[in-house]
Amino acid sequence: MDITPLIPRLIETATAQLANSYAPYSHFKVGAALLAADGRIFTGCNIENAAYGPSNCAERTAFFKAVSEGVRDFRAICIVGGQEGILTSYTAPCGVCRQVMMEFCDPQSFQILLAIDADHYKIFTLAELLPEGFGPANLG
Ligand code: THU
Repeated sequence: MDITPLIPRLIETATAQLANSYAPYSHFKVGAALLAADGRIFTGCNIENAAYGPSNCAERTAFFKAVSEGVRDFRAICIVGGQEGILTSYTAPCGVCRQVMMEFCDPQSFQILLAIDADHYKIFTLAELLPEGFGPANLG
């Protein structure tokens, strides 16, 4: 899928999520916009916890929202993040989130869009960020 025409909207949607980020401990706010195959966009933000461990990343929030609504076919995710929500550099997904992507996405074609703003972004496939990943196919 050519996501090029959707890039501005994905970046805008992920950035808008920074307002919902709950990050009173790290102060590092993250927003995500997950594009499903049917064109729907599921949003996510990071949600921290006083016990630290239960904290959830923006990417997983978006995935779990979508999967909980019966959607499992995805094409791309946009991720933005920065201290106090100020975007100055690229925020790449953590290892746990990459593994969650591996569960639902084709690593060769799923696109991970890291953005600062509409003019500054870069795109990787999941396979590039999680080489030789272990997924459902390994158990098939
Ligand atoms: N975080 C995300 O939500 N996504 C990432 O890709 C990197 C890290 C969150 C987790 C935690 O709330 C904060 O950023 C600092 O690690």
